[in-house]
Amino acid sequence: MHTVIQVVDKDRFDNKELAAASKVLKEGGLVAFPTETVYGLGANALDELASKKIYEAKGRPSDNPLIVHIADTSDLSNMVVELPQKALELAKTFWPGPLTMIFHKSESVPYGTTGGLDTVAVRMPDHPLALALIKYSGIYLAAPSANTSGRPSPTKAEHVIEDLSGKVDMILDGGEVGIGIESTILDMTEDIPVILRPGFITKEMLEAVIGEVQVDQAILKRNQNLNLKPKAPGMKYRHYAPKGELTVFQGAMPFVVKEINKRAKQMTEDGYTVGIVATEETKQEYSYGIVKTIGYRNDAHSIARGLYGVLREFDSLGAQYIYSESFQDNALGNAIMNRLLKAAGYHVVRVD
Ligand code: TXA
Ligand code: MG
Repeated sequence: MHTVIQVVDKDRFDNKELAAASKVLKEGGLVAFPTETVYGLGANALDELASKKIYEAKGRPSDNPLIVHIADTSDLSNMVVELPQKALELAKTFWPGPLTMIFHKSESVPYGTTGGLDTVAVRMPDHPLALALIKYSGIYLAAPSANTSGRPSPTKAEHVIEDLSGKVDMILDGGEVGIGIESTILDMTEDIPVILRPGFITKEMLEAVIGEVQVDQAILKRNQNLNLKPKAPGMKYRHYAPKGELTVFQGAMPFVVKEINKRAKQMTEDGYTVGIVATEETKQEYSYGIVKTIGYRNDAHSIARGLYGVLREFDSLGAQYIYSESFQDNALGNAIMNRLLKAAGYHVVRVD
């Protein structure tokens, strides 16, 4: 398949630039587009055959449901059978934005989009291009992250091209995304809503609006041996992973740096290509391997933005072993550590 790559300035475009993408979507095709979190791979959410193509292009397991992207809160009523008051309050506060909510689905949403579940995940992305595309085409977009299944999510169009060129009809290149990790997922079908995937919108931010919110046990107890089944089917798969073997080092920073240096030296001497996930504050302290900074330790936003891109860079550099510092585990740091540990297959070394 020939993939059309169209560059669009997200701050200055007119609807004419969306005509070709809109046509593809109306004909049941696939268009990758930027959102504020990561790039998405979009298709008509109400057309089962179109959704199916997403699974094929990504190599995604068919039981892993898709998020439906809308451009107006009123669009919810077409898709859900019950709209809790709390959800409306959250939508008013956080939409458009990086919050996905799960509802009991209506008949208009095909099982091909929800991975066979009776619930549907919906969000309104905070990105001018994504919103304009949904409005102009009049199509709700089923869209997972636009990466090959299992690889780190794409934060720029180049990443999408790397994974999906030749497999999708069109890629809209709207530049780099702002946040860099996927939306928070909140299950609204429970009396007390449950976070199924941490993200930019934190538990505290949600609780400030609707009161008590819980966190899925499978996320809290990050211990694979417990074998807790996550409620978001996608969270059970190895994910966001680079090709090299990623290890996360936890403990006081001086010990972390020392241990990473020690292992990087050993592995380099043994002839392996080693990558180190460092930060602006610590990059000078490493003497072996390929050192990449992911952001500033004291600025979680910069780390979220840098994470997936750096993991992908190590792939293209052929890193066989990747050693990463760990990051603060509060607020946004919670989402960062969730993705990093998943990418590492929970391979953690404690150094104190
Ligand atoms: O920020 C984002 O959410 C990005 C952008 C493109 O919007 N999308 C994204 O989609 O991360 P994806 O498919 O990569 O991750 C969706 C996650 C999966 O873990 C999936 O299992 C879960 O959402 N999910 C979707 N529908 C669900 C449902 N009805 N019940 C439980 N989990 C659901
Ligand atoms: Mg994904």
